[in-house]
Amino acid sequence: MKTKKVITDNPKDFYHGKKVFVRVDFNVPIDNEKNTIREDYRIRRAIPTIDFLINAGAKVILGSHLGRPKGKKNKNLSLELVAVRLSQLIDKKVYFCDDFTDKGWPEKINNLDNGSVVLLENLRFYNEETENDDHFSVTLASLADIYVNDAFGTSHRAHASTYGMALKFKSKLAGFLVDKELKFISKMIGEVEHPFVVIIGGSKIKDKITAMAKLLDKADKIIIAGGAAYTFLKARGINIGNSIFEQDMLDWAKDVYSKYSDKIVLPVDHLVSESIEKTNSCLIVDQEIPDDYQAFDIGPKTIELFNSIIKGPGCIFWNGPMGVFELDKYSSGTIHVARAVALATWRGAVSVVGGGETIAALRKAEVLESEISHMSTGGGALLEYLGGSDLPGIEILD
Ligand code: 3PG
Repeated sequence: MKTKKVITDNPKDFYHGKKVFVRVDFNVPIDNEKNTIREDYRIRRAIPTIDFLINAGAKVILGSHLGRPKGKKNKNLSLELVAVRLSQLIDKKVYFCDDFTDKGWPEKINNLDNGSVVLLENLRFYNEETENDDHFSVTLASLADIYVNDAFGTSHRAHASTYGMALKFKSKLAGFLVDKELKFISKMIGEVEHPFVVIIGGSKIKDKITAMAKLLDKADKIIIAGGAAYTFLKARGINIGNSIFEQDMLDWAKDVYSKYSDKIVLPVDHLVSESIEKTNSCLIVDQEIPDDYQAFDIGPKTIELFNSIIKGPGCIFWNGPMGVFELDKYSSGTIHVARAVALATWRGAVSVVGGGETIAALRKAEVLESEISHMSTGGGALLEYLGGSDLPGIEILD
C-alpha cells in the first residue's frame, strides 16, 4: 500500500499563519438551467481537510477544475457557485478569486486573516493547467507555502495543479480524503474477492478504455454500457446508428473483444431516440440500432442481464451511468444498476462506486451511502488505480 505523509503527520502549529494550497476536486455535476449544483458529495468530502487547516490557523487556498473548458473562460463552468455552496457548508465566508494571475490577488491572499478560505476560479480556464506548463506551475506555487492534495479524483492527471506545482514545494502532503481513499482501495485490491465484477458506463470513453484494459485480467466480468459500449458494438460490426463511439479505438476494441469475449458483457437492447430532446420518438430496439437513432439508455433485456451478474457476494466496482440518467426518460437502466449494486452489498459484496456522475446516479436511485461499501470521489482515477497504475498526483506526495 502507498504510504503518504498526511496533514496530521505534522503538528498543528506547523500550519499556523502559513498559506496552504489544497488541490481539491470540485468537478461536480451542475444544472446550468437552474444554476444549481446537482450533487455536492465531492465538496462535502473535502471539508475535513479544510476544517483542519482553518482550525490550525492556515490561510487555505483551494484550487480545482470544473469540466473541460479547454483553456477558455466559460461561465457555465465557473466555480463561483461552488464557493457559495462551500461557504454554506462550512458556515464561513469563502473568498472567490476570479483570476489568480491578476497581480492584486497574491497580495490579497497574503493579507487575509489566518483561518480564511479562498477558492480560485476554474484552473482549466488556462490551457497551461492541462499542459502542465512550468511557468504556470511556478505562478500557482508562489501563492502558497505548503501543498496538499485532497483531489483523489484528479490524481491520475499530471497537470500543473496536481503535479507541476507540487514539485516546487518542500512539503507536499495528502489530505484526509486522499488518505481515506488510498487506504480503502489499496485494501480492496490486496484482498479482492471473486467474482470481481466491474461495471463501466458514462461518456468519457477514451480515458476509460485504456484503464479498462488493465482490469481485464483481474475481473471476472466487465459490464460495459454508456458511450464505451458503442465502440465495442461497432467494432463487432453491429449497427449503432448515431450513438457516440471512439473511431480510433475500434481496432483495439475488436482485438480486446476477441480475446475476452467470455468476460465482456455488452448491452443486448437499447432505448433509442432520434435526438436527446425528442423523447416522444423513443423506441426499444434489440442489438441493431436504426440509422438516425441514437442510444440514450440500456433496454429491459439488458437490465435483466446485468442484474443476473450484479448479485454479490464478491467485489463490485462501478463507474459511469448506463445512459443519460439526468433525464427521467433515460434513467431506468442507471437506476436499476444502482439498486442492484446496493442489493448485492446487502448480500455481502464489497462495493466501490466512484465518480461525480455515478454518485449523482446513486442519489437519483435513492440508494443510501450505507448501502455501498465505499463511495469514492474518483472516477477515472479510481479505475486507473484499481488497474494497478501509479497516479502522478499521489506519487509526487511526500
Ligand atoms: C473526474 O470527474 O473524473 C475528475 O474530476 C477528473 O476529470 P477529467 O477526467 O476531466 O480530468
